[in-house]
Amino acid sequence: MSYLPIKQLLKASSGVDSSRMDSPVGTTVTVKGWVRTKRESKNAVFIALNDGSTIQNIQAVAEAGQLPEDTLKLITTGSCLAITGQIVESQGSGQAIEVKITDVVIYGTADPEKYPLQPKRHSLEFLREIAHLRPRTNTFSAILRIRHALAFAIHKYFNDNGFFYLNTPIITASDAEGAGEMFRVTTLDAIKPPLTEDGKVDYNQDFFGRETNLTVSGQLEGELGAMALGKIYTFGPTFRAENSNTTRHLAEFWMIEPEMAFYELKDNMNLAEDFVKTVIRYALQHCADDLAFLDNRLKEEEKTKKKEEQSELGLLEKLQFVINNEFVRLTYTEAVDILMNSKPAKKGQFQFEVKWGIDLQSEHERYLVEKHFKKPVILTNYPRAIKAFYMKQDVEPATNARGEVFGPTVRAMDVLFPGIGEIIGGSQREEDLDKLVARMQEVGIDPEAIWWYLDTRRFGTAPHAGFGLGFERLVLFVTGMGNIRDVIPFPRAPKTAEF
Ligand code: 4AD
Ligand code: MG
Repeated sequence: MSYLPIKQLLKASSGVDSSRMDSPVGTTVTVKGWVRTKRESKNAVFIALNDGSTIQNIQAVAEAGQLPEDTLKLITTGSCLAITGQIVESQGSGQAIEVKITDVVIYGTADPEKYPLQPKRHSLEFLREIAHLRPRTNTFSAILRIRHALAFAIHKYFNDNGFFYLNTPIITASDAEGAGEMFRVTTLDAIKPPLTEDGKVDYNQDFFGRETNLTVSGQLEGELGAMALGKIYTFGPTFRAENSNTTRHLAEFWMIEPEMAFYELKDNMNLAEDFVKTVIRYALQHCADDLAFLDNRLKEEEKTKKKEEQSELGLLEKLQFVINNEFVRLTYTEAVDILMNSKPAKKGQFQFEVKWGIDLQSEHERYLVEKHFKKPVILTNYPRAIKAFYMKQDVEPATNARGEVFGPTVRAMDVLFPGIGEIIGGSQREEDLDKLVARMQEVGIDPEAIWWYLDTRRFGTAPHAGFGLGFERLVLFVTGMGNIRDVIPFPRAPKTAEF
């Protein structure tokens, strides 16, 4: 049975004027969706129906006594209906049009005693426990539509700019980041796995004849693609078995990894900045309703906070601010100097002490972005010791404003965002075979294990660069939500894999 999506119906009726030729007023339509609220007055019954196509509901109205009592009883929040009726200009405020009901079909009831979503504000913690139903709330449906728009914008951006979408494997035998935070993939018997002579698990007998894991990054295969197609990007699920129970980490997340032949660090930064700005702009243009709803939601939430903890910018202002301002670019060495001379460092307010060589903690990143520069920041040229083996080694030593010399560093770049911290991590790659192999040996990675990766440096090597954007961190930023578990439909995190 055909039906009209509510989004289409409301769009056709925006600025409604029944004299207009294309006005839907007067036509008969069928709409289908889930009941958000039912309200009865002396003369009429009002049903707010939502079908997920838009955050807006359509109001359907029946005269008192029109619908049989037992039908009416079954129309409750969460029940699913098909409503047929005539479009009329609404008498009430809040909507331009409404449906004057002629027929109702109840597809599914939702016992109000048992249905957990009621027309009131539920806490995000509670909604996480019913992740299977939370897409039916305004907040989560808005987030999921924005998530979709951003995914689409990302593919569009790369397609428009001559990149090819490359699918890299999810099951892999290599640890791309060399951090060892991987989930094993095996079909061996968990209780009695076959053993080698020296008592270790014999992975030769496993499905792939070797140890395999879920990928932590598609970059290594992405580099193979870039060395043939020029510019590629991946967009796929990524897995990290890091036991960090934070509002910024998931065990399963989606990462976008462009990789470009002939790009150096500066080109990489330019691309990253243009890319995130473009996709945020797309969301502003195409998700106005949903963003306005989330903007409002955030404003309400801010009001419950103490004055000094309230953020200066609303969600929409913050997004505008990011797309309209240049990101600040500075080296890690310069950033460490700023941090060491900062008030919180002098007052001992950082939990982790700052000195050259440390891996910056989220408190440091947020100080730089939110307090010092008040803008997104791109930090470059990090200490070699804290970054992955594949990054291009700097030849020039790092110096600070007083001429003090540090090193060695690599051509890394991290993009830091307000409220998020690191949203993008990337680098120019080491294209020199000898330097790359030497670095691998230093950090204990067997070059033989990824001989195929090293072949790119053996045969027609070239300068190249790339980065990874954490998709959920982007969605987190654009929606203004506070917890990464609320911007993916079914989050995977330590002790969390219910749905
Ligand atoms: O900085 P990362 O670890 O970089 C890489 O994996 C490179 N191979 C990327 C590249 O150069 N092609 O991860 C990249 C981004 C981070 O900046 C962050 O946004 C996101 O991925 N990310 C996570 N997002 C959610 N949960 C986690 N556990 C994440 N770990 C990284
Ligand atoms: Mg990183």
